[in-house]
Amino acid sequence: MRVHVADHPLITHKLTYLRDKRTDSPTFRRLTEELVTLLAYEATRDVRVEPFDIETPVAPTTGIKLSNPKPLIVPILRAGLGMLEGMVRLLPSAEVGFLGMQRNEETLEAITYANRLPDDLRGRQCYVVDPMLATGGTLADAIRYLADRGADDITAVTLLAAPEGIKAVEEALADLDIPINLVTGALDERLNDKGYIVPGLGDAGDRLYGVV
Ligand code: URA
Repeated sequence: MRVHVADHPLITHKLTYLRDKRTDSPTFRRLTEELVTLLAYEATRDVRVEPFDIETPVAPTTGIKLSNPKPLIVPILRAGLGMLEGMVRLLPSAEVGFLGMQRNEETLEAITYANRLPDDLRGRQCYVVDPMLATGGTLADAIRYLADRGADDITAVTLLAAPEGIKAVEEALADLDIPINLVTGALDERLNDKGYIVPGLGDAGDRLYGVV
């Protein structure tokens, strides 16, 4: 997996306010959207494009446009929804699929409890969005789910990542021979014994949407 830590000062500045426990939910949601737009800029560096002929008021020229099939953005429910708007703002013609995944704590198997995705993802570039790469279990399962349906280029976009999570995703997906990328706003120190990222920002879903 190719890992890119997007440690631009503006990203780190916004992340600092996001991490702060005094930041309320409306501000947290707004900062998340702003951060995702900045991360999406990095994450789409290799988005597929094709030549596109146009005429300016002065002369004909050839630019580029996004290729078909258009990229697919896949937020992992629930916290990934908070990142969707920022992604779509940068990629308005992308399609959006949804994946709800939860771990069965006894078997450690991922349960897919919601899925609104095309069955056939052959030739698709996919952008999986989930704020926290913690243990890596859900992200690894989501990437495999997309790869099994034919996605041939997958980029995960996270606000924060833990070293343990990156290692776990790399190990779990070692057999996949498609490009897999991670773009994250910061690489934090570690996981604590409850699986939270340290220093992290707490529970991203709760901070976005409250405790339900
Ligand atoms: N999920 C979260 O929301 N926060 C963490 O720190 C880890 C997983």
